[in-house]
Amino acid sequence: MLDHEQVVIRTGPRTGLPVIIAVHSTALGPAAGGVRMWRYPGWRDGLADALRLSAAMTAKFAAAGLSNGGGKTVVALPEGTVLDGPRRRDALHDVGDAVAALDGAYSAGPDVGTAPADMAVIGEITPHVFCRPAEAGGSGDSSPHTADGTLAALRAAARHLYGTRSLAGRRFGIIGLGHVGEHLAGLLAAEGAELTVTDIDPAKRPKAEALGAAWTGPDEILGADVDVLVPAALGGVLTEQTVARLRCRAVVGPANNQLASPGVADLLHRRGILWVPDYVASAGGVIHAVTTELHRLGPGEARARVAAIEDTVTGLLDTATRSGRTPAEAADELARRRVRTAAP
Ligand code: PHE
Repeated sequence: MLDHEQVVIRTGPRTGLPVIIAVHSTALGPAAGGVRMWRYPGWRDGLADALRLSAAMTAKFAAAGLSNGGGKTVVALPEGTVLDGPRRRDALHDVGDAVAALDGAYSAGPDVGTAPADMAVIGEITPHVFCRPAEAGGSGDSSPHTADGTLAALRAAARHLYGTRSLAGRRFGIIGLGHVGEHLAGLLAAEGAELTVTDIDPAKRPKAEALGAAWTGPDEILGADVDVLVPAALGGVLTEQTVARLRCRAVVGPANNQLASPGVADLLHRRGILWVPDYVASAGGVIHAVTTELHRLGPGEARARVAAIEDTVTGLLDTATRSGRTPAEAADELARRRVRTAAP
C-alpha cells in the first residue's frame, strides 16, 4: 500500500533530470521538506529516498508540535554529475514548476545538495519555498538552527546518561562536516568537548583540525571509542553490521533516516546504546523556518522553540524508561498520535 498522499515524478523539461516530489501527509497542515539534489544509481533509488525522507518529515513536524505535514523533493543526478551555472538554474526552475503545480500542498526548503541561494531561484517560479536568503525575503540558512537543535538533543541525552547536561569533556564522533555537521562541531568544540571527525571528502580535514578535532576515516569512526556518535551526513549509517561495531553509549545526530531499517532501533536498545530518533534531533531547521516564515514570530521565539527540543527529548526518554519501550517507539507513538488526532 502506498502510504503517501501523492507522489509526482517528472522529467524536468529544461534539464531532462528526474524531479520527484513525495507528499507524505497533509493531515496536520501543508507539507514541507527539503530539496535533495544528489547522485543516485537511478531515478528509482531517488524515488525510494524521497518516499522515506518525506515520511520522516511528517514525523519531524508532528514530534515538534508543528502544524505541517511531510514532503521531500529529490532531483536524482547521474553518478559523477556536478550541477552548476545555467544548468543548475534550469534544474531549480524544473523543481519550481513541480512545486507550483502542487499549489501549496507542499513547500520546498534546503536539503543535502541545496542552499538558500537555490531557494531564491526556486522562488522565481513559486512562493512555496522556505529559507531564501534574507535579501530575498526568507529566513536564510537553516543549518545553524538544525545544529542548535541537535545540541539541545545532545544535552538531554547527556542528562539521561550522566545526570548532567554539560557536554564539556565528553567525546563525540561526528560523521560528516557538511552544512550542519560543521556548525555542530563548532558548538561542541566551544563547549569543551573532545571531537573526532570524518567526512567522505578529505578536503574537509583542515576545517576539522582548525577546531582541534582528530580526523579519522568514514569507516573507522563507527568503531571509535567515543561517548556519543553523531551522524550528520547521509542516511542509512546504522545497520545490523555497523551497530555490532559501535563502542559508544549513544547515537544522536541531525542526519535524516539514520536507520537502515526500523528494526535497527531494537538492536541499539539491546546493546544498551541510547538512540535519539533522528527526526527529533534534526528538527531545529524546520522549527526555525516555520516559526519565522509562517508564524511570523521573532528570532527570540524561534530560538526558544528550537531549544525546547531538549525538553521534548527528555520527555521521550522518560516515557521510554517508564514504559519499558525504546525511545524510537516512544517518539513514533507521539508523532502518530498527533497525526491521528488531527486527521478529519
Ligand atoms: N532539510 C530540512 C530537514 O530535513 C528541510 C527543511 C529545512 C525544510 C527548512 C524546510 C525548511 O528538516
